[in-house]
Amino acid sequence: MIREHQSKSRPVADEIRRSIIEDLPDIADIKDEDLQGKVVDAWAYSLSSSSFHRISDIPGEGNPNILVLRRGNQTDHLRGVAHLALKIVDVFEGTYPEVNIDRDIVLAGALCHDIGKPYEFDPANRERWSKDPSRFGQPALRHSVYGAHICLTVGLPEEIAHIALGHSLEGQHIGLSTECYIVRHADHTWWHVAGAVGLLEPHSLVDVGTMMRARSIDVAQR
Ligand SMILES: [Fe+2]
Ligand SMILES: [Fe+2]
Repeated sequence: MIREHQSKSRPVADEIRRSIIEDLPDIADIKDEDLQGKVVDAWAYSLSSSSFHRISDIPGEGNPNILVLRRGNQTDHLRGVAHLALKIVDVFEGTYPEVNIDRDIVLAGALCHDIGKPYEFDPANRERWSKDPSRFGQPALRHSVYGAHICLTVGLPEEIAHIALGHSLEGQHIGLSTECYIVRHADHTWWHVAGAVGLLEPHSLVDVGTMMRARSIDVAQR
């Protein structure tokens, strides 16, 4: 029985799957075709279980109202983290060919690290949590935890579920894989640099430490 506060999944429409490829074209660079397909499956399941219809509809924020992009949306963050993580791999592989990093896991993990955000950012969920946090929690689950659930449910490898969980605060309680460590640092670097160069709303600069002096810029309109 589905209880009133649990959202039912909508059937996954082909349109959602198409929008995922459009929003995250880097999925095509995952070499393992099975992994590539499961990344699409996972995003489709996550979106279909939420009020969001495509990834680009999710606001560009680290957590709701924290680290808020002045323009852009969640795809800019996901793609930026994927590119940054792959650059880290390139730099180390280029100088030290003996290093052994699974590039496909880094890329798929980076594209899926925030796969729980449709749930944590869902206005319907947020409204329920804020009505009675003493019953549901606020949020009931953070996007990292819910993201690991999504990954395992659609059959993504454990390594990807580990990245979804370990990229975020929860990661400090577990031992991190090499690939998770790279994605976690790419993610944190992306938000911190976005703040320092002036791309984040000043009021939303929470948990960035005391060293940042954010530059003031005019943000171009798209
Ligand atoms: Fe995150
Ligand atoms: Fe992130």
